[in-house]
Formats: sequence, C-alpha cells, structure tokens
Amino acid sequence: EDTDKGAYPYYMLKEIDEQAVVARNISAHYFDEDGNLQGIPCAVTDTIQEADRLYIVAAGTSYHAGLVGKRYFEQWAKIPTEVHIASEFAYDQPMLSEKPFFIFLSQSGETADSREVLDNVKKQGYPALTLANVMNSTLTREADFALPVLAGPEIAVASTKAYTAQVLVQAILAASLGNPGFDLKAELAKVAVEIQAITDEKESFKKIAEDALKDQHSAFYIGRGLDAAVALEAALKLKEISYIQTEGFAAGELKHGTISLIEEGTPVFALLTQSKTAGLLRGEVAQVAARGANTIVFASEDLAKEGDAFVLPQVNELLMPLLAVIPAQLVAYYATLARGLDVDRPRNLAKSVTVQ
Ligand code: G6P
Repeated sequence: EDTDKGAYPYYMLKEIDEQAVVARNISAHYFDEDGNLQGIPCAVTDTIQEADRLYIVAAGTSYHAGLVGKRYFEQWAKIPTEVHIASEFAYDQPMLSEKPFFIFLSQSGETADSREVLDNVKKQGYPALTLANVMNSTLTREADFALPVLAGPEIAVASTKAYTAQVLVQAILAASLGNPGFDLKAELAKVAVEIQAITDEKESFKKIAEDALKDQHSAFYIGRGLDAAVALEAALKLKEISYIQTEGFAAGELKHGTISLIEEGTPVFALLTQSKTAGLLRGEVAQVAARGANTIVFASEDLAKEGDAFVLPQVNELLMPLLAVIPAQLVAYYATLARGLDVDRPRNLAKSVTVQ
C-alpha cells in the first residue's frame, strides 16, 4: 500500500484527506452490493449476543473512538457498554458483569497497556475481539476474534484516519448486532461524500487556526453527548502536535470549575451536532463569550446559526462524530504548521507505545 507522502508536505495532511476513501473502503468491505452486511463471522456476533455487557478497552485516540462506539452498541445493539483506558483497567480491574465480552480497539495492535489487559482477561477465560488497523499484530493474534479497521498505513504520530475508521467499524459491528433504524450503508455513503466536502475546505480551517491559535498557550474544546466524546479527541489532536495546552470536556462541566480559566481571547471551540442539548450548549458558548473567550462554533447544518465558524453537513446525528472530528484535525494541523513545528513527529511521542 501507499506509504509515500506524494505531493503532501506531511503524512498527517495526506491521512486526513484519505478519510473519505477509507470510509468507502470500509463500506465496500463490510456491505455487499445489496446492502447486506458481510465480513463479520457468525462466531463473533453469536458470542457477543451471549454477553450481558461489552467492555471496550483502548488507549489514546482509540479510547476516544471507543467512547463514540459505545453509543452504537447501546442504542442499536442494546448491549450495555463500558469504555476503559487500558493502562487503568490493567491494574484496577472494575467489577465485571456475569458475561462480559471484550473489544480491544487499536491502530497498531501493539499497545502494551492493551496487551496487558488482553492477557489478564484471557487468563480469566473471557472472550475478546480486537478491532485493529494492523491486522497481523499481537492484539489481533492473541484475541479470539479480530476484524480489520481498514484505514491503511498510518504514519503520522497524530492519529486521524484510524479514528474515523474505528468509529465506522464499530458502527457496522453494532448494526450487525441490532438495528440502527435507518439505512446505514446509504448514510455511510453520504458520510464519505461529506468528509470529502469538509477536507476540501482547508483554507477555512487554516484561517481559523492561524487567527485563533497562533499565539495562544491554551485552548478548549467543549460539547455535549457525542460532541463531548469528540471534544476529547479534538483536544488531544491539538495539544499533541501544537503543544497548545488544550482541554476537551463536557460543556456542562464548565460551570463547575473550568470557566475560571477563561480570559480575554481564550479560544473555545464548541462542537454542536446533537439536537437534544444544542440549546444548553448555545448557553455555554454565550457564557464563555461573555467572559471574553474567542468562541469558534462548528455546528451541524440543522443546528447552525449565523456567526458559527463552520457549518458541518448534516448526516444522521449519531454519525456526526465522523464529520465533527475533521475540522479539529485540520485546525490542529494548521495551528502546528503556523507555529513552525514538525506536524508528523511531535516531541516525546511514539506512534505505537510498546512499553507500559
Ligand atoms: C500512541 C499513539 C496514539 C494512539 C495510542 C494508542 O500514544 O501516539 O496516536 O492513539 O498510542 O495506540 P493504538 O495503536 O493502540 O491505537
């Protein structure tokens, strides 16, 4: 496969741009021409159906993808789902349900913290599935089952396409266990088109990043519900490559402490794609703006208002994380570029962390 940067200055930008194609590849792999799901062995779905609870275990960006996937397993497959940080679960295993099923999410399939958990749960005799981008990896080999995430080689340290691919594959797996209540294949085709549309707007995000972040030391990403999960990933992207200290969190928590950090000009990015909480989030945006924050709202078409920085194309609300993360990736990329840093190789970080 293509691991050449081609005309791109950095792998990260290439990998951001590949996300539309990755979405199509995943659909082509997991749906047949009539729209039926394929490629998920019955042994996987049967074993999951026997479980009373799913435990998603992962690290970093993969953990953030798990926070989104949880919604699909709970809402479509109706299976209670917990998402855990591997390095915590490994040494403080929470009380488990009677019939747990483990899902390991990993780009590399080699993360030591996740491997430690897999070892532990295997010793306890619990079934496990790995969703990995690198298929011939320790986590895929050692789990009972493995399914490919199909993002293609990801070289930049900051993970982008592996995140969207993990969210997509979890959606598809959840749909194989239950009913999303809409035509997932058709909606994912739309998602691919709209990812492309957003990545075509690079200049907008370059400008937003340069205006809002060039000389900042700190920034915030807020959202509610699924947007809170995406806010964590958005903040990680920005901080890990630009070194701007960025916090991502559930917007309702602002008033319980964080709002005291807001100063004149502090950039606060709000992700606004969930209708149930859109009004509340608008209120929170107004509250930080009143305290001097530079608010930058990325809202979905149905919820957008004048003054929002970017309008995200509308797809099914549960799939909006696949679109909402893209501006955050591009903002992180351009902010880092504007600060003259090496986008692909941030200091102190490794693509795959094989020590605990
Ligand atoms: C490293 C990478 C992150 C990644 C995390 C988990 O910290 O820099 O981008 O999210 O490991 O890696 P995995 O390969 O298990 O997804």
